[in-house]
Amino acid sequence: MYSRYLQELAMTSKEISKMFVQLGNKTGPNVFIVIGASGDLAKKKIYPVLWALFKDELLPKETYIIGYARSKLSLEDLQSRWAPFLKVSEEEQEKYKEFVKINKYCAGQYDKTSDFSRLDKMINDVGNCNRLFYLALPPSVYETVTLNLKATCMSKSDKWTRVIIEKPFGRDLETSEHLSNHLSSLFREEEIYRIDHYLGKEMVQNLMVLRFGNRIYSPIWNRDSIASVVISFKEPFGTQGRGGYFDDFGIIRDVMQNHLLQLLTLVAMEKPPSTAAEDIRNEKVKVLKSVPPITMDNVVLGQYVGNPDGKDDEKQGYLDDPTVPAGSVTPTFVTAALFVRNERWDGVPFILRCGKALNERKAEVRIQFKDMPGDIFSEGKVKRNELVIRVQPNEAVYMKMMTKSPGMSFDCEETELDLTYGSRYKGVKMPEAYERLILDVFTGSQINFVRSDELYQAWRIFTPLLHQMESEKPKPIPYKYGSRGPKESDDLFANNNFTYTGTYKWSPSKI
Ligand code: NDP
Ligand code: BG6
Repeated sequence: MYSRYLQELAMTSKEISKMFVQLGNKTGPNVFIVIGASGDLAKKKIYPVLWALFKDELLPKETYIIGYARSKLSLEDLQSRWAPFLKVSEEEQEKYKEFVKINKYCAGQYDKTSDFSRLDKMINDVGNCNRLFYLALPPSVYETVTLNLKATCMSKSDKWTRVIIEKPFGRDLETSEHLSNHLSSLFREEEIYRIDHYLGKEMVQNLMVLRFGNRIYSPIWNRDSIASVVISFKEPFGTQGRGGYFDDFGIIRDVMQNHLLQLLTLVAMEKPPSTAAEDIRNEKVKVLKSVPPITMDNVVLGQYVGNPDGKDDEKQGYLDDPTVPAGSVTPTFVTAALFVRNERWDGVPFILRCGKALNERKAEVRIQFKDMPGDIFSEGKVKRNELVIRVQPNEAVYMKMMTKSPGMSFDCEETELDLTYGSRYKGVKMPEAYERLILDVFTGSQINFVRSDELYQAWRIFTPLLHQMESEKPKPIPYKYGSRGPKESDDLFANNNFTYTGTYKWSPSKI
């Protein structure tokens, strides 16, 4: 409701956020409870984001924060944990002291209802308030914790309770369904916020505007004009001591089944009737329903090995990480070709690729258009157009296209129409994905959160492959730390109507 109203007003994101806050203020006070406050996610992401919102005056007035975890910590102990990750400048010291004052900590077990009753009492000290629980916890305790929350900590009377859950939402269709059924027995769908932080990124949110706000794309956004779509996630570092968690899940569950599939739905979905959360999520689910499960012959699995010529970190392969079990066949790199069997997309490969310990950090969507029919120029000169939406780093949208070589010649060459955010929107601060999403939860907007049927479809697509991998244990192809991944991945691209010519040259000095 709020978002509809706000969209009708042309406002900057900061103005919108402030407006959200004012609207939220009418219904305060609010208590934000971080369950698992002593953990990694809490110190690295959640407290820094709460601080960022607080210092920019985007947190609704009368918001208090309570950390809950098993460790017996004082507020000072908690502060020293988050301190290395909170950016506080000299001028912000006073503000930071105010931030500390809105924080409290409660030590308690995850399976003890009496401890949650103490937490409830602490929340009640604020008065009749809205409650926002962030479960920054290992999935193994989700059920116990949510049972206790439901039993003891729900808001009273007219106030709301919202629960934010972090991935992994299960590890396959069955476990995810089990968790979904458990949650829906306790909370209404509008109380559950399943976070996929990619949905909070600027360029991911921009996909809807680019597609549905530009007439030029509507007639060409389909199988008639598009040859293939590549959705990439690359990281230049390995598991870095997180191998224990990672090995249990692998890159498919860690990145592809959620972040990359979300990008696919935004690229492929039909135009929703409005920007209301349910209208958008209905369209996303429809697309997913048209995607058959991935098959092994459309997949390349890789695992990084040390690069003896690389820097210190790069010398270590995945299996050299002491937290990774010996002989593990967990992939750290995957390329998979998916198909959307509907009228718009039939036959167009959606190539999803993600990997750790690669040559660069990059997340992007690359739409490659078909060859120009009836080429009248020198054979082979005219290259395919590409529309690239670079999610990170250095947000940009660029369209690779042909132009006449400037000057007397009548030759043609590759060039680009370039929207580089760093130059077009100089000085505009892009909010962190988590900042946006946490603000969304305060305002009750579920546009950027995953609905239970969306999750079901996502697992339906990946579960047969994951189970096959678990039973057959295919050995991933080794690739060197710092490389572009296994060569077989490029072959899969080439076999799926993606053409790489290597002729395009970008001149960064133009920025
Ligand atoms: P390219 O044609 O150079 O690359 C296209 C794609 O091919 C990329 O996905 C690339 O890297 C992949 N590729 C590389 N080698 C192979 C191979 N052997 N087989 C198959 N695929 C391969 O165009 P780009 O769009 O990548 O542009 C080149 C550079 O210019 C980039 O660094 C880009 O960021 C920059 N640029 C920046 C702009 C801006 O900042 N606004 C605008 C335009 C360009 P991979 O597969 O490793 O991901
Ligand atoms: C997380 C994955 O969801 O996303 C990590 O668990 C990954 O493995 C991270 O590193 C990437 O997020 P971002 O925002 O840095 O691209």
